[in-house]
Amino acid sequence: MSESPTRLVTAVIVVAAGSGQRLGYGMPKAAVPLGGEPILMHALRGIVASGVATQVCVALPAGDQDLRRLCDDFREELADGGPLLTVVDGGSTRAGSVRAGIAALMDGIEAVLVHDAARALTPESVFHRVSDSLVAGAAAVIPVLPVVDTVKTVAATAGDDTALAPEVVTGTARREELRAVQTPQGFTIGTLLKAHEAAQGLDGQQAAAVTDDAMLVEMLGTPVHAVRGSTQSLKITTPLDLIFAEGLLEGPLGARWVEG
Ligand code: CTP
Ligand code: MG
Repeated sequence: MSESPTRLVTAVIVVAAGSGQRLGYGMPKAAVPLGGEPILMHALRGIVASGVATQVCVALPAGDQDLRRLCDDFREELADGGPLLTVVDGGSTRAGSVRAGIAALMDGIEAVLVHDAARALTPESVFHRVSDSLVAGAAAVIPVLPVVDTVKTVAATAGDDTALAPEVVTGTARREELRAVQTPQGFTIGTLLKAHEAAQGLDGQQAAAVTDDAMLVEMLGTPVHAVRGSTQSLKITTPLDLIFAEGLLEGPLGARWVEG
């Protein structure tokens, strides 16, 4: 009997093509400085340091020359034997950016981790837990954290959900069954391809409701496994998140603090 492999040939697709509306810097979020370097650089360094990737495929805002140059410089910085760094134009939606990344995967890739550039400080341990779960036989795996807030459902209101109009509570979710979901989300290559193929058949409203890749796998009826994420893997979305991320790098805990 042959021994099981210790790793799969893995690509990390980094989705970095968003505009960062909620951060409000007037530039793509991936280019916004964090600790003196663009957010994207932190994400790329973390991925490379984890050692999981044979290929890193970055989806950038279409036509963005500055971020392209940043990736070109980083490619030169990578030592021989480091991952292949590929850059593609992202799409107008996150799912479109993932699809652009899939189209640029090299031959022989067995597993894909899809990662938000906005989760710039994800510790290496999370990449390892996701990868290990795929090696152990999962077709799809997501990093999760328990939910600390009590979560209510409300009656759907038409129109602008940012207006904070008074709403009627319809129920309280069972918190012990809830998980907050992070990235990197890991998939065997066949599972990810099937999931995104199936997504092409969704109508506009259904497609808009898809907020992560694992949801597409759930729709196929394929089990999705969950491993422990990390609070350090926060998604930089609002100005407050950026302050928090700066604090993780420079605050009293210092850059060496890593929550496993
Ligand atoms: N993303 C992407 N392509 C898009 C939209 C989003 O690659 N068309 C990426 C973002 O760059 C980010 C991740 O998906 O790394 C999660 O998206 P989000 O945090 O919503 O980032 P933005 O869309 O940039 O932010 P906002 O929604 O505030 O504009
Ligand atoms: Mg967005």
